[in-house]
Amino acid sequence: MGQKWVIVTGATDGIGLITARRMAESGASLGLVARNAEKGARVVEDLKRETNNSDIRFFKADLSKLDDVRSVAEEISAANPQLDVLVNNAGAMFVGKQMSADGFEMTFALNHLSVFLLTNLLKDQLVSADGGRVVTVASMAHRGSDLNFADLDGQKGSYSAWRAYQRSKLANILFTRELADRWKETRVTANCLHPGFVASRFGENNNAAFSTFFKVGKIFAISPEKGAETSVHLASDESVAGETGGYFIKKKRVQPSRAARNADTAKRLWEESLRMTGLTT
Ligand SMILES: NC(=O)c1ccc[n+]([C@@H]2O[C@H](COP(=O)([O-])OP(=O)(O)OC[C@H]3O[C@@H](n4cnc5c(N)ncnc54)[C@H](OP(=O)(O)O)[C@@H]3O)[C@@H](O)[C@H]2O)c1
Repeated sequence: MGQKWVIVTGATDGIGLITARRMAESGASLGLVARNAEKGARVVEDLKRETNNSDIRFFKADLSKLDDVRSVAEEISAANPQLDVLVNNAGAMFVGKQMSADGFEMTFALNHLSVFLLTNLLKDQLVSADGGRVVTVASMAHRGSDLNFADLDGQKGSYSAWRAYQRSKLANILFTRELADRWKETRVTANCLHPGFVASRFGENNNAAFSTFFKVGKIFAISPEKGAETSVHLASDESVAGETGGYFIKKKRVQPSRAARNADTAKRLWEESLRMTGLTT
């Protein structure tokens, strides 16, 4: 794909790491965003060696913190005035209820608010590219969920890790839909995907019982290599240039749940997310 400038969040492990490797192999200039600088430096060195691509750098940010999102957006913008591809991949599930530094439920903060804020802060750079792409890793887990605007991040009621995760992944799809609509006058496209059930480190940042659940489940899971295929497809394949507002599984555009197709919910989520992140437009 030539000298494209590509950012992958959560690129130090799992699906994001493989997505980053594929992008590096394609000759792109690559920026990896994650929270652990030591691990990031190691991954950059490994990728440079494995792919013979020296144009790879690391940006440190704990994406659950809005201040970190703001500062990393500035660093990314300063590094290059145009951004061809933003892969919003970082995400997690938290077994116990946690609050983010900004006072939001942690799953919602990391999986949705950071995606919303980072993408919006990089708008000028994406618009400057020749057909910029925003690719967001959602999940089939959104099915069975809906948003409750009286308690959007779910911090008031009793906590369920699964319900919090479902809510955040539904938000990814609604965000993608609304982004495609709001940015339709630009040449930027926005798509999201379910990667499959992937044997990554997902779920291991939780307590022992939860980790065991994921370890057993992973016997049936696909590899991160396979899991990254749809992200890579949406980030780089010519066949999806111009395609926007879609939800993909196995590289095919499919319908998400009814709740994920509700235009009013998408609009309202956008307005609330503006307020929560302190953005004005
Ligand atoms: N695995 C699945 O079956 C599955 C299914 C559907 C959707 N997904 C989605 O796929 C995406 C990637 O998941 P994965 O399975 O590859 O997970 P993973 O192996 O746990 O990797 C997650 C990546 O995100 C980074 N990250 C986590 N918290 C962060 C934070 N606060 N700030 C910055 N970076 C952070 C991690 O960094 P560290 O290296 O520091 O931990 C790591 O690089 C997620 O959005 C997930 O919801 C996964």
